[in-house]
Amino acid sequence: MSFPTLRLRRLRRNENLRALVRETSLSPQHLIAPLFAVHGEGVRREIPSMPNVYHLSPDELAREAEEIAALGLPAVILFGVPAHKDPVGRENFADDGIVQQAVRAIKSAVPSLLVITDVCLCEYTDHGHCGLVRDGEILNDETLDVLGKVAVSHARAGADVVAPSGMMDGMVAAIRAALDGAGYSGVGVLSYAVKYASSFYGPFRDAAQSAPAFGDRRTHQMDPANAREALREARLDAEEGADMLMVKPALAYLDVIRRVRERFELPLAAYSVSGEYSMIKAAAARGWIDERRVALETLLAIRRAGADMILTYYAKEAARWLGA
Ligand code: PBG
Repeated sequence: MSFPTLRLRRLRRNENLRALVRETSLSPQHLIAPLFAVHGEGVRREIPSMPNVYHLSPDELAREAEEIAALGLPAVILFGVPAHKDPVGRENFADDGIVQQAVRAIKSAVPSLLVITDVCLCEYTDHGHCGLVRDGEILNDETLDVLGKVAVSHARAGADVVAPSGMMDGMVAAIRAALDGAGYSGVGVLSYAVKYASSFYGPFRDAAQSAPAFGDRRTHQMDPANAREALREARLDAEEGADMLMVKPALAYLDVIRRVRERFELPLAAYSVSGEYSMIKAAAARGWIDERRVALETLLAIRRAGADMILTYYAKEAARWLGA
């Protein structure tokens, strides 16, 4: 059958028909809201390069969590801005560290809201790198012990899932062993398995104050030119016991999301990162694009590529637009 008998426009004639044949869905239940925790009380400070995203103190995070849950969003992912930085990042595994305080505040306000914590060294170390550093080199194996300690500390505070983002080889196995050893076998691991050395993280590094003091992240994060290597990264983390995988960034890596989706059974997350968010915000502020439509189209595209869930700074706004 072909034209004129075949007419593809027949199924696009009205919204009910279009809804009936729609292949991809997007709803608040697919979205995870990133949150930035800072010390203090009553702190709600907008991040200049990320309009409508805030640094929040634990009391404000509790209020934010209530709003997020009321919008039908299932989960948040927490990043911490510590009071002090040192070569090891001690606040990262301190019981009264900022993320630990934030987890407890959110969990006591809304016990059912899932709390995922980012597990990495870069926000806590004075050199801003994702691992321990010796003679200018980012150490792999020595860093794994610290990551295990951080994960256990987050679990003790009440985190449901930990998300290692440092791209150290062996990080998932080290964290799984540390969690199980400390009695947290129910705490899951969402691995940033496929994380590229991307320039789209610019605004985040302001937000988390985590820009490296020297060098860059290209000795551990992936080369944006590589897609087959993404499958090797995903396989390594799946074999080490990751419960869920992540590809990051999202929009410039839809092909990678698709490939990982087709090759692995694990639930797949995609992180629509700070630069993706800020580009839409900036263009919308100038009246060059329709913010709501562009943001929702972007999220839909990430779902269509194969992501089960999306970490996005648009989570709350999207939930409102989608009419939770
Ligand atoms: C590392 C981490 C980064 C992001 C999430 N976790 C920054 C980096 O690797 O430099 C970036 C997130 C974003 O840009 O939105 N802890």
